[in-house]
Amino acid sequence: MALEESEVLRAIRAKKSELGARLTILTHHYQRPEIVAVGDHMGDSFGLSRLAAQNEKARHIVFCGVHFMAESAAVLAGPGRTVQIPDMNAGCPMAEMADPVNVETAWRELAGLLGQEILVPLVYMNSSAELKAFCGARGGAVCTSSNAKTALKWAFSRGSRVLFFPDQHLGRNSGNALGLARDEMIVWSPGKPLGGNSAGSIRRSRLILWDGFCHVHTKFTPEHIADARKRLPGAKIIVHPECPEEVVNAADASGSTDQMVKYVKAAPSGSVIVIGTEIHLVERLAAEIPEKTILPLFRSMCPNMFKISPEKLLAVLEDIGRKNLVEVPEDIKADAGKALSRMLELAP
Ligand code: 13P
Ligand code: SF4
Repeated sequence: MALEESEVLRAIRAKKSELGARLTILTHHYQRPEIVAVGDHMGDSFGLSRLAAQNEKARHIVFCGVHFMAESAAVLAGPGRTVQIPDMNAGCPMAEMADPVNVETAWRELAGLLGQEILVPLVYMNSSAELKAFCGARGGAVCTSSNAKTALKWAFSRGSRVLFFPDQHLGRNSGNALGLARDEMIVWSPGKPLGGNSAGSIRRSRLILWDGFCHVHTKFTPEHIADARKRLPGAKIIVHPECPEEVVNAADASGSTDQMVKYVKAAPSGSVIVIGTEIHLVERLAAEIPEKTILPLFRSMCPNMFKISPEKLLAVLEDIGRKNLVEVPEDIKADAGKALSRMLELAP
């Protein structure tokens, strides 16, 4: 018989006090309020990775987010610790837009064309552990939306060109922030010869962007921003850097989920702030900070983040250290760990 939600939440709290310091529940900013209420720490991909790497007292990490986040925690957590996710099917479609086979092909074709020039791979956190390992083994790094600009600058200090995957928008927005010219950034479409580019355009480019995207953030348009500016003169508009460049350029600021939370908290009382990101974060901020008017740029939801429910969280807590374990093979872990450790060094 299904339990009432309040009973489920009570049972989660009872399990938490039973497990004490041996357990930590990490929740991403896009989680629903019921999950956030029972979590121990909330953050963006960068902050949650850092917590997974640091909190050694907790033998068991339960990650309320999507699979690549839990997988990264499993790499960073170190031996003797377990990482579980309440729903193994909570994936990220963008992370699946690049796979080791098509990235290897792109790498080979680019290396063939560029000869002795040094190409540095930079992979967005939203990717499989295998692709993180690919970067770790080739002197590259992982970045998140909070440190993408710093990581890109670092990559250009190591080589003349960067292959950035899978999110073309985060890559382009970061390239724009570093002042790269339009023709210095090209898009690589896997499956097409030379990724759909001419040899000349590849030689002229500095930043090669994989053609991945987030279907939650590409729903935001410059028209949404123009409309918000008309309806709410004086409002500040902030967006996530997974949005297309026209949206980021028209906004007042862009940043990771945590950076957006900080922006909202630092704004003066009475501010009107319109946010272009996943709806659960916007609604939570609006509820938590009534002295500011916080509105969505448009309602856009991540169905994968929403797969994490109190019932599924309770089920993993009842089978702690076993159910829905997220594990990474040792050979992948070593190289993925190198790329993730570099990410943690490249602080936002
Ligand atoms: P953050 O690292 O900004 O939390 O972003 C993760 C994500 O998946 C955004 O869509
Ligand atoms: Fe992936 Fe987009 Fe969902 Fe973030 S919001 S987890 S990038 S699908």
